[in-house]
Amino acid sequence: MCGIVGYTGAESAAPVLLRALKRLEYRGYDSAGVATVYAGEVVVRKDAGRVDEINARLKLESMPGTVGIAHTRWATHGAPTAQNAHPHTDCSGRIAIVHNGVIENYLALKKELLDLDHSLASRTDSEVVAHLVEEYLRRGEQLEQAFRKALQRLEGSYAVALVSSLSPEKILAARREAPLIIGAGKGFNMVASDITALIEMTKEMVFLHDGDMAVLTGSGYRILRIDTGEVVERPVKVVELTVEMAEKQGYPHFMLKEIFEQPETLRNSLRLQIEYVDLLAELLDRGRTVFLIGAGTSYNACVAGSYLFSQIARLPTLPVIASEFIPNYGASIGVDTVILAVSQSGETADVLSALEYARMRACTILGITNTVGSTLTRVSRAYVLQNSGPEIGVAATKTFTSQVLVLAKIALRLARLRGKIAQYEIDEFNSWLERVPQTVAEALTMVNEPVRRLAERIAESRVVFILGRGVSYSTALEGRLKIMELSYIPCITYPAGESKHGPISVIEGGVPVIFVAPPDEYRKQNIGSIMEMKARGAYTVVVGDASDQELKQLADYYIEMPKIHPLLSPTTYTIPFQLLAYYTALAKGHDPDKPRNLAKSITVP
Ligand code: G6P
Repeated sequence: MCGIVGYTGAESAAPVLLRALKRLEYRGYDSAGVATVYAGEVVVRKDAGRVDEINARLKLESMPGTVGIAHTRWATHGAPTAQNAHPHTDCSGRIAIVHNGVIENYLALKKELLDLDHSLASRTDSEVVAHLVEEYLRRGEQLEQAFRKALQRLEGSYAVALVSSLSPEKILAARREAPLIIGAGKGFNMVASDITALIEMTKEMVFLHDGDMAVLTGSGYRILRIDTGEVVERPVKVVELTVEMAEKQGYPHFMLKEIFEQPETLRNSLRLQIEYVDLLAELLDRGRTVFLIGAGTSYNACVAGSYLFSQIARLPTLPVIASEFIPNYGASIGVDTVILAVSQSGETADVLSALEYARMRACTILGITNTVGSTLTRVSRAYVLQNSGPEIGVAATKTFTSQVLVLAKIALRLARLRGKIAQYEIDEFNSWLERVPQTVAEALTMVNEPVRRLAERIAESRVVFILGRGVSYSTALEGRLKIMELSYIPCITYPAGESKHGPISVIEGGVPVIFVAPPDEYRKQNIGSIMEMKARGAYTVVVGDASDQELKQLADYYIEMPKIHPLLSPTTYTIPFQLLAYYTALAKGHDPDKPRNLAKSITVP
């Protein structure tokens, strides 16, 4: 899970590549490097660390040449060292490649290449690609053909780009199970792992399909199939995103900007194409068993979705963590199974492999994603786009609230279709739903300061409990994920009723226990749980309705929330947790945009 980018045109390539690399850093930031072609030679500079640091050290920006490729890495095979940083070259130094993905058969290929007297410099799986191309050149193939033959030998996933002094104006690129997009410009062409790296230069994008290979020059590009060599056409899509949309807009961090832009992104999420929502509702209704699958934050949205589908549409569904789907349910799925996959990137490997497995068993696949042209959109029978705009902060914020809102919208359409709840209930829920962007705006104003103060206390804690009942369990799960991934403080979350079955033994004087307690039917039980925790010396924090005096009196610290339909509360009650995670990370001196060991998009299993 790395970011790759290439540029060929009339401008100096390195500055363009560096700006793109900065935007790709959210995909990984262990090491980075650039290769350009200049005066008949391939020039490579790379090192461990972040793009800015490496640029300051190695002057990447001033590398000569108008054709180049670049890479920012999230280590999978081989430690994050200079040696393992991309680009990787062949023995002759005439070929350089960058790669995102995992070459599963690299050990066998490496052995074969070593036997053929190639010398490999790194411990990565990626380097074999450069040497394989070299090997086919040695056997008399031309560069394009050698690249295609090399690709045919690879097992696993890749988005790869290559430059060579043998064809100094060209970039060769290819994808399989990893995203790759061509950015078509006037007098130049680019290729990159995602739109964010391209939008500054062009709005015209071509989404490559699995098994596609592309040949780019400054004046044009050609796409062909890796297996047959057949030339194919792929449509050019005009992507209407501005560069500003992907930048911080005056906030100190992308995460804070993304938290505060939620009223707007939620409004965009309500502007769904209703015919697709209807289609999804219809297909969900036909399933005998319905699964909601996702990873990380998207899984937490699935948990919220399962409560919404059950309570609003009277449709039972099973939320499943994507990597557990095949082990747990693989043997029992079939033609009457419907799977709704939720994935911001639409590229998460665990999600895609579950879907591939399910597709082979004739299940109906549906999707919710934030990414136009992603693999999820291609494998789904029908999908809706959540319209949250690009999310740069590694920790998901605005994409979670949008996912929940989209799921609520689908649940409502499904309720209509199934006719199981009264019209007035549907209307009432709908008016709450339409008001969510406004409610979230209110919440942002109400909670920012109280949460900032609370963060100082939380930053001192060794463990934090976050508890909820009903749909608030999903809010608690998402709150836990945010706080854990940004502050690195261990967090414990379970449905609040479970305390007495074990976890309460961890409670001792001063341990913060945060209750997600909207005014729903579990209010009384929540009060019981708060008392239980207080009796054992816990520091109780309650996130609840601003008008709930009793809860306010009970809690050691109270976060006041605006009114909302309890079933829609994950969209709003998550806000204090996002901010708490952000301010706690700052209090502990961590970069909230780049939590350690994590990456935005996990495209390896
Ligand atoms: C990674 C990210 C998470 C994200 C998860 C699923 O772990 O760090 O923020 O929730 O992947 O990503 P997806 O793109 O499928 O929603």
